[in-house]
Amino acid sequence: MNTPTSSMKPVLVLGGTAGKTGRRVAQRLEARGVPVRNGSRSGNPSFDWEDPSTWKQALHGVGAVYLVYYPDLAMEGADVAVSGFVEEAVKSGVSRIVLLSGRGEEGAGRGENIVKNSGIEWTILRASWFAQNFSEGHLLEPVLEGTVALPAGDVAEPFIDADDIANVAVAAFTDRRHVGQLYELTGPRLLTFADAVAEIGAAAGRKLNYVPISAAEYESMLAQYAPPEFANWLSALFTEVLDGRNAHLNDGVQRALGRPPRDFADYARAAAATGVWNATAR
Ligand SMILES: NC(=O)c1ccc[n+]([C@@H]2O[C@H](COP(=O)([O-])OP(=O)(O)OC[C@H]3O[C@@H](n4cnc5c(N)ncnc54)[C@H](OP(=O)(O)O)[C@@H]3O)[C@@H](O)[C@H]2O)c1
Repeated sequence: MNTPTSSMKPVLVLGGTAGKTGRRVAQRLEARGVPVRNGSRSGNPSFDWEDPSTWKQALHGVGAVYLVYYPDLAMEGADVAVSGFVEEAVKSGVSRIVLLSGRGEEGAGRGENIVKNSGIEWTILRASWFAQNFSEGHLLEPVLEGTVALPAGDVAEPFIDADDIANVAVAAFTDRRHVGQLYELTGPRLLTFADAVAEIGAAAGRKLNYVPISAAEYESMLAQYAPPEFANWLSALFTEVLDGRNAHLNDGVQRALGRPPRDFADYARAAAATGVWNATAR
């Protein structure tokens, strides 16, 4: 194995304490003895995508960055923020960036290009929908309520396990052969959302329903608890990425790690065993 990037300098891991992938990346790097700095609003120093004055301090003395834009790389304005952040990273002497991107998201391409053209060594992880959205993200509450309603029809998605993404990210920080590689990361199997919800129901011992809804219905549902412009944007994004463009498998995990990705059924069994789906909805 090659030595970690700038071995004594920390890796700034965005979302390092609570992010679905960032937390896993930070844990794995620390287990290998790589120093890690958490880059989130709860970090010390604090890092906030919405406050550029926090970026320089968070990057000070850092050797590499796991770059996760929140809430989504495809969001309007993300390219401006990522561009400013990467410029600051160049000034700080960062030597490697591993960027988390989204599969089939046209807007995310702008963020990818900024990183590719920065002059910093890069690896891009273009991921499909995370399995962990059902246990750690926006689909947990619907699972606990018993009904997952999405504008996804019967489209198939190759859900990826966040553990696999983290393993590829760690490989990219610790092995030079991943520099300049773009990995399309998917799980090993296409599942419709009805399939995924049924597998979670079976693993958790709960009766669950998947209800396909229109983009307009999804937008009004979101607008009950999110600002209207966010509801409009998220509904449009889901409609874009769930139109069938992503209904195929890619070999990124196999290429990067030399083994197949973890199956959704294994994820569902492991998540069920933690008890996360035993709770009742809030
Ligand atoms: N979820 C998916 O299925 C999926 C699929 C493909 C790609 N992606 C990409 O993954 C990225 C992250 O998405 P995610 O939904 O999985 O989120 P996540 O990584 O789980 O994000 C949560 C983290 O973001 C931090 N955070 C929240 N607001 C922040 C801010 N203003 N500044 C800095 N940190 C902030 C939170 O920490 P604090 O509260 O401490 O700040 C928390 O650690 C997006 O760019 C998305 O495009 C996601």
